[in-house]
Amino acid sequence: MWCVLLQRRRLHSSLCLMKKLRGKTPAEQRWLTRQLRDPYVKASHDQNFRCRSAFKLLEIDDKFRLLQPGDGVVDCGAAPGAWSQVAVQRVNSAGTDPESPCGTVVGIDLLNIPPLDGAHFLSSHDVTDPATHAKLLELLPNGQARVILSDMAPNASGFREMDHEKLIMMCLSLIDLAEKILQPGGSLVCKYWDGILVQKLQERLSNVFGSVRTLKPNASRKDSSEKYFLARMYRKPVKRR
Ligand SMILES: C[S@@+](CC[C@H](N)C(=O)[O-])C[C@H]1O[C@@H](n2cnc3c(N)ncnc32)[C@H](O)[C@@H]1O
Repeated sequence: MWCVLLQRRRLHSSLCLMKKLRGKTPAEQRWLTRQLRDPYVKASHDQNFRCRSAFKLLEIDDKFRLLQPGDGVVDCGAAPGAWSQVAVQRVNSAGTDPESPCGTVVGIDLLNIPPLDGAHFLSSHDVTDPATHAKLLELLPNGQARVILSDMAPNASGFREMDHEKLIMMCLSLIDLAEKILQPGGSLVCKYWDGILVQKLQERLSNVFGSVRTLKPNASRKDSSEKYFLARMYRKPVKRR
């Protein structure tokens, strides 16, 4: 009996899939099939996250407890806003838990980020632009954040080395941002694409953070070269005269 029900259900999902794929190009069909089979896509719909990437940050935060109620968080490359949704929940910036301190979440993106209760968004802003840094100093309490998150990624050109270099440069710019807004002892999570410049980025992070480790969350697709650095215990560099 169960076997028959299971077969019927499988047949039903295959028919639904075929319907959805009709009229699509082969590339669109591949993308759609992957999306429909991805458990994180389904879970993000079920849990009202704006995209599956929420599960990468949830996994990192469940393991390392970076985001605490009351913290100030900057989310770089925030659109469409799934990481910010996680940050809002974890730092209580929407004041959902009246017993806990209320944090601050500021998200930045070149694209538009739809509004989210508990977050302040700087849409159409470039994280690497000093004018954006100046706005952050105004928005954060005492101009300071406890955590900088970056899931930023440039538009992929298809040239692997070039895209890798571009993303590493963006990650390096976060070290300048940290110098302006990150509290001593604070943390940085940044995405990079694997390649020859990773060691240079790791060295630069190690110069100003007490601990730097590489992460590949389960929610990050196995066939993607994406990885994350988690850098903790920030030491503000002493300014030279
Ligand atoms: C993978 S998406 C981020 C997804 C996001 N973490 C979420 O959970 O919704 C990468 C984002 O980085 C943004 N981005 C790329 N370069 C940027 C820059 N220089 N400044 C701000 N955002 C940037 C892109 O516009 C894109 O929206």
